Formats: sequence, structure tokens, C-alpha cells
Amino acid sequence: MRNKAVKTEPTVRSGNGTIRSFSVLCAVVFTTACVKNHAPSVCEDAVPLHKAMPFPLGTCIDLRSLRINQQYRALAEDEFESITPELVFKADRIHPSQFLYDFTGADELVAFCAENNKRLHGHTLVWHEQLPSWIQTFPGNAGEWEALLRDHIQTVVSHFKGKTKAWDVVNEAFNDDGTLRNTVWFRNVGPAYIEKAFRYAAEADPEALLFYNDYSLELNPKKRKAVISFLNNLRMRGVKIDGIGLQMHVNIYFPEPSQVAEALKEVQAAGYLVHLSELDVSLYLKPPLSQISVSQHLLNRQASTAASIIRHYLELPDTLKYGVTFWGVADPHTWLNSRYGVKDYPLLFDDHYQAKPMYMECKKILCE
Ligand code: G3I
Repeated sequence: MRNKAVKTEPTVRSGNGTIRSFSVLCAVVFTTACVKNHAPSVCEDAVPLHKAMPFPLGTCIDLRSLRINQQYRALAEDEFESITPELVFKADRIHPSQFLYDFTGADELVAFCAENNKRLHGHTLVWHEQLPSWIQTFPGNAGEWEALLRDHIQTVVSHFKGKTKAWDVVNEAFNDDGTLRNTVWFRNVGPAYIEKAFRYAAEADPEALLFYNDYSLELNPKKRKAVISFLNNLRMRGVKIDGIGLQMHVNIYFPEPSQVAEALKEVQAAGYLVHLSELDVSLYLKPPLSQISVSQHLLNRQASTAASIIRHYLELPDTLKYGVTFWGVADPHTWLNSRYGVKDYPLLFDDHYQAKPMYMECKKILCE
């Protein structure tokens, strides 16, 4: 059995303990929550968090776990509205050799999304990691590299046309100092590869929303300002860029809430859709890490961190709230476990697939 929510009754309690009707609460305090026309029972135990949130709550999905793990699958079905493929849309999986596209795994995940009425967020078209070796060692000249880039983007986007709501077109193209990262794409196509990538994607599916996705944008103003200014320049040149994905691989110590607020304000001011695209809240400060024991204190701190991020996100205009995606369904499946060689606990559900304090605290935002 899963723990699901915070309240056992459909009424809600104000801070001073008096019970108010849900409609009064909506009118006065949480207008954003109510514009989606939530049922008054939003705070009941059985109502999943994503139904209470006035934006799509998502997770990344590892197809292998979805196939073999029933608890994982049940959470994916019940608790999230938006799905980002963790691996199966990446170039090494989908484009294993120059003249072969293999959509087998990706199509299986697309079918899961269609059957379960999930929004599918395509991740990712252009990245310097998870490249098949044939791309890493491709000997072509600039024109041939450009043709490769175009062929990859347009074949993949066309294949999923009408099935993906959006794409992370370019992922992690900037260094921390705000300069462009020296990737295979940068070296072989030139700095214009980002503009070209967005143009190719828009040609292949004019309806899809197109995102630039990166990490540390909430922490590092220099990088964030460089990204926004670069994208603004492209937009002025007529390139379609709809949104920015702030990955939000955070921990219980950083960023400060004010840093999140500032980052969101800047992206909002520039007029981009905002996707918190890979949210996880590590219990560790930074590497090198030594294994910690998880405690209620740490889990409560994690809950406050996540709730604070969600609160700031709720302050965005509804029109810019593309959604918040956790980078994994439950703690056993986080990428952080293998990345740093210590067990971490950064997600909404624990090792037993039970909702954690972070889940309860996020739900409370709309129920207190
Ligand atoms: O499946 C193979 C397995 O056969 C092999 O034995 C094993 C040996 O290392 O590797 C397995 O593949 C690993 C794969 O995850 C599945 O676990 C890859 O090595 C490993 O690199 C891969 O890591 C993924 C990483 O992206 C690279 O694709 C993580 O799961 C995934 O969470 C992570 O996600 C990225 C986002 O796409 C972009 N932003 C950062 C984020 C975290 O790194």
C-alpha cells in the first residue's frame, strides 16, 4: 500500500486552525490552483499530488524498470501526468549506426504514454553525452556534420510528430562561465549548431514546443544570463524557442530560496515557458561523499526545500507553467546512486515506493 496524501477530509485548514470551505480558500489564497477547476476533494488522501497541482507534474521513466517492476509502473501510472524518457530517446539508443534508427524502446514508452493519457516530453535531440560511437568519431566535413545533425533531428522529430508535446532540442550547451561548451557539435558544425538545431526541429514539427535545457541555471546567474541572452538573440532572428528547462538537480543545502526566485523571475521576464525539468533533492552537499544514514530530520529538510521550490514555481503566471518533472519515480531509481557511488534519497517516493515527507509537504502547499 502506498501512503498517498496529507489530509483525511475534503475540508482544508487555515494556518490558525480554523476550517474554511475549499471554495473560500481558493478564492482568497490559491487562485492559481483553482483556475484548473480542481474538485473540492483535492486534499483527500486518495487524490494524488499531481491532481492537486495546477501544472503537469512529471517524472522521467526508465523503460526497463517500467517493464519489470510493478510498483514502479503503478507509481508511473497513478502519480505523474507528464513523462520524460530517461534514456530511450537519446541518440545512442535511437540512432545506433549511421543508417539505422531503432525506435523500438522509444515506441514502447510512447505507447505507455498514449494508453495512460500522459504528456510526453522528448529528451533530448542534441547533447554531447550518450552519443553513439559512430557520431563521436564521424570523420565528415562541416557540411556533412550539418547534414548529420539535420537528419538526426528531423528523422526523430518526424517519427514522434503528434505524439510528443515538446522537445529538449539542445541540452547542456553552456559552460559554467557562460561560454559555449566545446562539444562535438560545436567543433564540427560551428557555434551556429544551436540555431540550426532549433530551426530543423521546428521544420519537422511546427506544433511541438521547443526547449533549451541545462543545469545550474538556478545557482549560477552568469550562466543563466548568458543562456537567456543567447536564446533572446536567436528569437530576434526568428528562431522558434518556446521554453527553458531548468534541470534543478539541487540538494537540501543549495540553492537558497532567493536564488530560485531570482532565476524564475528572469526566465519569466524573458517570456519563456518554464520547465523544472529534472528536479531531485539530494541529501548530500557535494562530492566527495561519504554514505549518510537517512533521518527524519534530513527528510523534513528535503520536504521544505522541495515545497519552497514549488511555491516559487506557483508564483509564475499560469501561461508560463509548463510543468515540474522529477528526475525519477522513486529513490532506488535515481541516477545519483550510480553517479556518486553512495545511496541517495532525492525523489518523492522511498525505497519501498511509499510517499515521503516531500510528497506530503508539496501537497500541503495547496491544502493549508
Ligand atoms: O544500460 C547500461 C548497462 O548495460 C551497463 O552495464 C552499464 C555500465 O555502466 O551502463 C548502463 O547504462 C547506463 C544508463 O544510465 C542506464 O543505467 C549508462 O552507463 C549511464 O551513463 C546512464 O546514465 C544516464 C545519464 O543521463 C546519461 O544518459 C542516467 O541514467 C540519466 O539519469 C542521466 O540523465 C541526465 C539527463 O539526460 C540530462 N541532464 C543530466 C541528467 C543526469 O545525468
